[in-house]
Amino acid sequence: MHAELHVHPGPEALAAAVARRWATLAEEAIAEHGRFTVALSGGRTPRILYELLASPAWRDRLPWGQTELYLGDERCVPADHADSNARMVREALLDRLPHPPLFFPMVSDPMRPEQDAAHYASLLRERLGDAPIPTFDLILLGMGADGHFASLFPGTTALEDREAFALALREEQVGHRRISLGRRVIAAARRRIVMVTGADKRAALAEALHEPGSLLPIARLQRQASLEWHVDQAAYPAKPAAGV
Ligand code: 6PG
Repeated sequence: MHAELHVHPGPEALAAAVARRWATLAEEAIAEHGRFTVALSGGRTPRILYELLASPAWRDRLPWGQTELYLGDERCVPADHADSNARMVREALLDRLPHPPLFFPMVSDPMRPEQDAAHYASLLRERLGDAPIPTFDLILLGMGADGHFASLFPGTTALEDREAFALALREEQVGHRRISLGRRVIAAARRRIVMVTGADKRAALAEALHEPGSLLPIARLQRQASLEWHVDQAAYPAKPAAGV
């Protein structure tokens, strides 16, 4: 499938570019079907974007009243835990907006991941189910140094699952059990923006972009659905011009 690559000097420029894309996609989605549905990525990378969207430069220019925010994945921890993606979204975005949008966290009982995953799948059917597969207007993704996206890690049954809309990982990842959107839902979204920064992602990014047979999770997704990559130069050093 199609890969669109945007290389930015650093995280700030990357966040500014993705904010502009967010605004454009929101306008298009609302014009087309009256709302803008987004599954947010977690981890460290997107925080700068969420803070920018909540800043005076952007917050009053975006249609928060017609926007619905979901999560692409979550760690099975309490909502106030330092590793909670929902907590990061609240701190970086929602708590800074005078009129925050609808937000649907993934975890309500950290001790019952399967129950929360089933509940989220039902929520997606209920709120996004006008197509055979719940269809987001936008899914924001990050990429791990191992090429994972959302919580679909190499070697996990979750990555191989072709049916589930949302699922609880059996394996612990970085000390937590997790819930993730299924690959099927991520591939079905109208658009996927992948944000990658930092030298630690360099090897995985180069493989995903330049090795057609790569088995990295994000490379497999890219063969299934188009990706709009926004990366910084630390993750993707400008190639020296030929002959130098
Ligand atoms: C999560 C994310 C995960 C993340 C990558 C990259 O919950 O951790 O959803 O998929 O996007 O692990 O994480 P960083 O942005 O922290 O490098």
